[in-house]
Amino acid sequence: MPVNLRGRNFLKLLDYTPAEIRYLLDLSADFKRKKRSGEPHRYLAGKNIVLLFEKTSTRTRCSFEVAGLDLGCGVTYLDPGSSQMGKKESIADTARVLGRMYDGIEYRGFAQATVQALADYSGVPVWNGLTDQFHPTQMLADLLTIEEKLGRLKGVNFTYMGDARNNMGNSLMVACAKMGLNFTACAPKELFPEQWLIDEAKKIAAESGGSVRLTEDVQEGTRDADVIYTDIWVSMGEPDSVWAERIRLLQPYQVNAAAMANAKPTAIFMHCLPSFHDTNTTIGAEIAQKFGINEMEVTDEVFESKQSVVFDEAENRMHTIKAVIYATLC
Ligand code: CP
Ligand code: NVA
Repeated sequence: MPVNLRGRNFLKLLDYTPAEIRYLLDLSADFKRKKRSGEPHRYLAGKNIVLLFEKTSTRTRCSFEVAGLDLGCGVTYLDPGSSQMGKKESIADTARVLGRMYDGIEYRGFAQATVQALADYSGVPVWNGLTDQFHPTQMLADLLTIEEKLGRLKGVNFTYMGDARNNMGNSLMVACAKMGLNFTACAPKELFPEQWLIDEAKKIAAESGGSVRLTEDVQEGTRDADVIYTDIWVSMGEPDSVWAERIRLLQPYQVNAAAMANAKPTAIFMHCLPSFHDTNTTIGAEIAQKFGINEMEVTDEVFESKQSVVFDEAENRMHTIKAVIYATLC
């Protein structure tokens, strides 16, 4: 069946079929080729999009801006605290105003219910640029990167180490299940995803030929992995008071040389970024001083190794976001 995503929201990967995700990945690869060869693609000239950020961002914000501009759109960026939304105007009212002016709305913030409300009230496509629960545009970039590096998605052994119940853990489990990868969450059980989502992902994986597994055992979780993926231990919006407990829980799940050695020799290392792999950041330096650790979720050795594909992955944010904007607005 031909895929047509015009007018659709992009709020979470659970809402998309494997065929629709496949379509977006192929479109992304085509946009990447066009960008690299300098072929113009201003297909959305005359349209306008707005980017609402209630949390900070480098990759997602820049990807939406560059992708929108490459497609010929006008782009408005509203940074945390610079609109009336939430404080003086409800989400429903903000959505109805923005929907009168813009053809599409990107939102990064806290509750999934907020991005859902923007979609319910605006009347135009809404794209989730990260909530506490899901980060769907990151998933497209990650799948594209895996396919580029390993030549396939189906049957790939994918291991996620770290906080498996944050937006990245949740989203990667769903993305892998949809596209037939073998997903392993390698994490302490306190940080496993919610049971309803595990059940849902297992159901999806049964249909796609993939699998979903959760383990606290690092040896078992990393053995024969094709991809080892991690994320920061404390996510945006969480209080500083959780650092001590999170370090205690997640230090055994650091991606280091031993973890990579237990994976396949051809394994790649992935991370959505930003990453605390050294002390060259304010938070990295503070944590080093307070807790005596110079690297957190990944060692600098692994981050800088040949197996690390994190900057290709970051570039793919832009190509895949461009595909989402185009497919839903064209
Ligand atoms: N990976 C990611 O979403 O990065 P930013 O927070 O910089 O957008
Ligand atoms: N889990 C991280 C992802 C950042 C892209 C956060 O929410 O801060």
